[in-house]
Amino acid sequence: MKENDSKHRILILGASGFIGHAIYKELCAYFKTFGTYRVPHKTFKNNHHFIQYNVEEDDVYEVLEATKPTIIISALRGDFHAQTIAHQHLTEYVLDRDCKIIFLSSANVFDAYSKYPSYELDKTFSGSVYGHFKIKIENMLLRLPKKKIVIVRLPMVLGSQSPRIKEIKQHLYDKTAIEIFPNIIMNVTTETKVTQQIHYIINRNKFGVFHLGSVDLVHHDEYIKDIVNQITTKNGVLFKHVYTTNEDRYLAVLPKFNKLPKHLQITSQEVLQELNR
Ligand SMILES: NC(=O)c1ccc[n+]([C@@H]2O[C@H](COP(=O)([O-])OP(=O)(O)OC[C@H]3O[C@@H](n4cnc5c(N)ncnc54)[C@H](OP(=O)(O)O)[C@@H]3O)[C@@H](O)[C@H]2O)c1
Repeated sequence: MKENDSKHRILILGASGFIGHAIYKELCAYFKTFGTYRVPHKTFKNNHHFIQYNVEEDDVYEVLEATKPTIIISALRGDFHAQTIAHQHLTEYVLDRDCKIIFLSSANVFDAYSKYPSYELDKTFSGSVYGHFKIKIENMLLRLPKKKIVIVRLPMVLGSQSPRIKEIKQHLYDKTAIEIFPNIIMNVTTETKVTQQIHYIINRNKFGVFHLGSVDLVHHDEYIKDIVNQITTKNGVLFKHVYTTNEDRYLAVLPKFNKLPKHLQITSQEVLQELNR
């Protein structure tokens, strides 16, 4: 389907970011797609589909008025209080219009649970400020008509340009210690798989809560070491073992009710292979 054939106008809040930009690149050939950025950059200034927006200073209504989206994808970071207010305004817009919102949430909405991986309908419960914030926005959205919302809960998203991979490379360069959490069992994904999954969710007009992690689980420490071994063959890499509890803790989002087709699923091994390309 070409852009002009599509009825959708898509607005990505945070389209200059790691995930937001990958989503923009995936969707812009098929839909009239707009995006926001915060830090001035000539790539975005010169693109008429990009608008500068700072959640702490600007009114999101102006962005909505300028772009008139039928789908909003929230891929923002920034001050939590300001984001909460912006999402209140987004929910009002979505309620009044023929519009749907896709919110990028996180496995951290379950970070106070530890004994099991989490599924879509499990009750959210967090012990972190970040997790609490994500739960607050999720709950706000869950009050909207159910067909108007998509909540995608993401585990650690990896890619050659992901903040985490850049951080690991910086530690290797600086010869400083990379933090690993031997007790954490998690799942992972890549930004390319997430963008394909979101594209599918849009095309098929899906709604509800989606858990977009790899189908298998890994130990944080072993997986980070696998990544490091792909980046460097040097010995003597420094690791800092961080123990948050004595027992294993799960930070993993698995699908049970909203499963995507096989070609849109990913394994932790495939994530590693993609990082190696
Ligand atoms: N990456 C992961 O592993 C992961 C895992 C789970 C959930 N998530 C969620 O996915 C979303 C995107 O994450 P990401 O890793 O792609 O983040 P990112 O690379 O840091 O991108 C964040 C985006 O938000 C924009 N932004 C930051 N501060 C802002 C502000 N004050 N006002 C307006 N815009 C602002 C950034 O603009 P500039 O580039 O101009 O600063 C950028 O476009 C977030 O909601 C995050 O919680 C990510």
